[in-house]
Amino acid sequence: MSDPNSDRGRGGVAAPEGQLDGDPRASALLRVEDLRVQLPTEDGLLGAVDGISYELHAGRTLGIVGESGSGKTVSALALMGLNPKHARVSGRIDFDGRELLALDSQQLRALRGDELAMIFQDPLSSLHPLHRVGWQLVEAIRAHRDVAKAAARERAAELLDLVGIPDARARLHAYPHELSGGQRQRVMIAMALANEPKLLIADEPTTALDVTVQAQILALLARLQRELGMAILLVTHDLGVVAEIADEVAVMYAGRIVERGSTEQVLTAPSHPYTWGLLRSIPRLEGGAAGHGPASRAPRDSDRGAVGELEPIAGRPASLISPPSGCRFHPRCPYALPDHARIDPALAPLPDDPAHLAACLLAPEERTRLWSKEERARLGSDEERAHLWSDEERTRLGSDEEPARLGDETHG
Ligand SMILES: Nc1ncnc2c1ncn2[C@@H]1O[C@H](COP(=O)(O)OP(=O)(O)OP(=O)(O)O)[C@@H](O)[C@H]1O
Ligand code: SF4
Ligand SMILES: [Mg+2]
Repeated sequence: MSDPNSDRGRGGVAAPEGQLDGDPRASALLRVEDLRVQLPTEDGLLGAVDGISYELHAGRTLGIVGESGSGKTVSALALMGLNPKHARVSGRIDFDGRELLALDSQQLRALRGDELAMIFQDPLSSLHPLHRVGWQLVEAIRAHRDVAKAAARERAAELLDLVGIPDARARLHAYPHELSGGQRQRVMIAMALANEPKLLIADEPTTALDVTVQAQILALLARLQRELGMAILLVTHDLGVVAEIADEVAVMYAGRIVERGSTEQVLTAPSHPYTWGLLRSIPRLEGGAAGHGPASRAPRDSDRGAVGELEPIAGRPASLISPPSGCRFHPRCPYALPDHARIDPALAPLPDDPAHLAACLLAPEERTRLWSKEERARLGSDEERAHLWSDEERTRLGSDEEPARLGDETHG
C-alpha cells in the first residue's frame, strides 16, 4: 500500500523570496518527514499522526487545520518532545540543522522556551495560578539566560508592553485570575516570546476569545513575526484564522495531511473533498466566498450565525484505532467510488502547481470541475445545492451507489 504522505517532491511550503536559489530544502528552518505518533490506549494503538511531512521557512507561517481529533495538537507536541512518555514517535524532525527526535530530554529542555516555543491550547492550565505573572515571566527568561533578576524583570515588563498589555509594569504583580481571557492569552504569548524563539508553535491561540480580541491577537502575532523574523506553526480548526495570517496551509484528516499548499491556492482552488467540506462549514460573508488569502478579512468561527449558511461535514470523524480502509475520508465523501474504499491515495502534486498537493483518487481536472460546481452551488440557490450530488453526477463519475451507503459498508 502506498504511503500517502511521504511525498518527496518539492515541499508544499514555499520559501520566501531569495531562498529559492539552490536547494530550497536546505533553507527550511523546520523539515518534518514521515512523522508518526502512536498512542497506546485501552482499546488498542491509536495512530494520532500517521506519516505527515511538511517544511517551514524562517519568517513564514504554516497553518495546520482540521476537525477536532485530526492530530493537530499531537503533531505539534511531537516537535516540542512533549508527547506522553509511552507514545511511539518516529520519522524525522529537522529543526535548524538538528534532528529533534534524536535529542535527549535535557537537550530538548534547553531548546524549549528558547529557540522553540509554544502557546498551548489551554492558556489557563499553562499559567501557574499561584504565581504572579511577573514572577513567571522572570523564571521563563532566567531558565535560558544568565541575567540578573532586576534585568529579567525589566525584560518582563518590556514583553508585556510588546504584547499590548496596558500599564505593563504594574501588571507584573497580577495573578492570572486577575486578568481577562485576552490578557492571559497575551501573557502566554509574552512567555513564549521571552527568548525570541526561531519557531513559535501557536495551538488555537484565539479560540475562546471574543472576535475583537481574536483580531488583536492575530494582528499581534503578525506584527511580532515581522519584527522578530520567527516562523509560526499555527494550529487551528478555523480556516478563517488561517486565511488571515498563514502563508501556507496543511489540511489534516485522521492523522494525515490530505492537502497542502499556499493559503491562497488551498482556499481559493482547493483540490480535496475534505477541504471543500471544511470550507462549506464556515460562513461566507457578504460579497463572496470564504478565504481570499492572508491579507483579507476572512470569516471566522466567531462569525457563525451572523451571515451565510453553514453545512457541517456529514458523518463522524474516522476512528484512529481502526481507520477506514483505502481513502480514510471515503465513508464521509460524497464523491467516493467503490475503489476508493480499497486504494489509499498518495499526497501528490497538482500538474499545474507542483507546490500544491492533495491526496485524492479522482483526476485533478475532475476535482477542478467538481470544485467549481461546489462553488456555484455555495453561492447559488437551494435548487443548485440539491443537484450538487445528483444521480446524473454519480453516474458520470461511474457509480450509481449512494455514497453514504458505500461508506457504511466499507468502514473499518
Ligand atoms: N494522551 C493521549 N492518549 C491517547 N489518545 C490521545 C492522547 N492525546 C490525544 N489523543 C487522541 O489523539 C487524537 C488526536 O488528538 P489531537 O489532540 O491531536 O487532536 P486535535 O486535532 O488537536 O483536536 P482539537 O481540534 O480538538 O484540539 C484524538 O483521537 C485524541 O483523542
Ligand atoms: S479518494 Fe475518493 S473518497 Fe477519498 S477524497 Fe477523493 S473522492 Fe473522496
Ligand atoms: Mg488540539
